[in-house]
Amino acid sequence: MAPQPTKRDFLSLLDASPEELVGLIDRARVLKAKTLNGELHQPLKGRTAAMVLQLNSTRTRVSFEVGMHQLGGHAIFLGTQDTQFGRGESISDAARVLSTMVDVVLIRTLEQADVEEFARNASIPVINGMTARQHPCQLLADVQTFEEMRGPIQGKTVAFVGDGYNMCHTYINASNQWNFNLKIACPEDYQPDAQILASTNNANLVETAREAVENADLVVTDVWSSMGHEGQERDRRATFADYQVSETLLDFARSDTLFMHCLPAHRGEEVNETVLDDPRSVVWQEAGNRLHSQKALLEFLLLR
Ligand code: CP
Repeated sequence: MAPQPTKRDFLSLLDASPEELVGLIDRARVLKAKTLNGELHQPLKGRTAAMVLQLNSTRTRVSFEVGMHQLGGHAIFLGTQDTQFGRGESISDAARVLSTMVDVVLIRTLEQADVEEFARNASIPVINGMTARQHPCQLLADVQTFEEMRGPIQGKTVAFVGDGYNMCHTYINASNQWNFNLKIACPEDYQPDAQILASTNNANLVETAREAVENADLVVTDVWSSMGHEGQERDRRATFADYQVSETLLDFARSDTLFMHCLPAHRGEEVNETVLDDPRSVVWQEAGNRLHSQKALLEFLLLR
């Protein structure tokens, strides 16, 4: 394991400066080109990532594992049931132990406080692979996708429609870091955390999905019942019914608008049956860019 004298974590977008985030997206573009050209680029030979995933994942798990492999390193999946995480080993003890064996840890768990406690006790970089509060890795892919199709996101207008949960919170942070305008439409009892919303002047609540989407350069939504909301699905389907994204809703946005969803999606709920396949939808490119943007993040954290 290589020494990490000044380790950096990535627990939220606020853990990197706006300039560093711009650099990360630039680097993601370069790494994507290398991959698409078949160029071998293995600066992380001999390095190991632990992926502590206490909640289900497809995109985050695969993109980190493949990313580490392509960069010449290795990734280990640590699920709850087959490790001592499932038998109550403390977060701080686990952080100290893993710090002696691996070079970087990716964690997905509900509580942001648990990720922060892990990072405080780890001497290696810790990456937030999603909590109930934040999903910063997803935003790297989203911004990369927008910028490769439409140029800088700075100064643009983004609409977030749906649940004021982790993706909405992360978009609020992103609006501050990349300096874009964010309009948020959520049902009254599902608005984003007031403190996160108050942390920037760039994000504003609006009354309706249509109001959010009008003149937007990018429209974003997420599932109505995220991990942590099990058992609330029926009530939420009724509450969020006016917030479904469809081709008709996108017609209120700019004619060149893009549509994103971090996936997995529930067709017939937050999206209708067809909008993911609309020409304005870039959800597949967005998912694919998880690989390239997180490779840039791994380089940023490990090659310092
Ligand atoms: N968007 C996202 O984080 O996907 P997974 O839950 O599959 O990792």
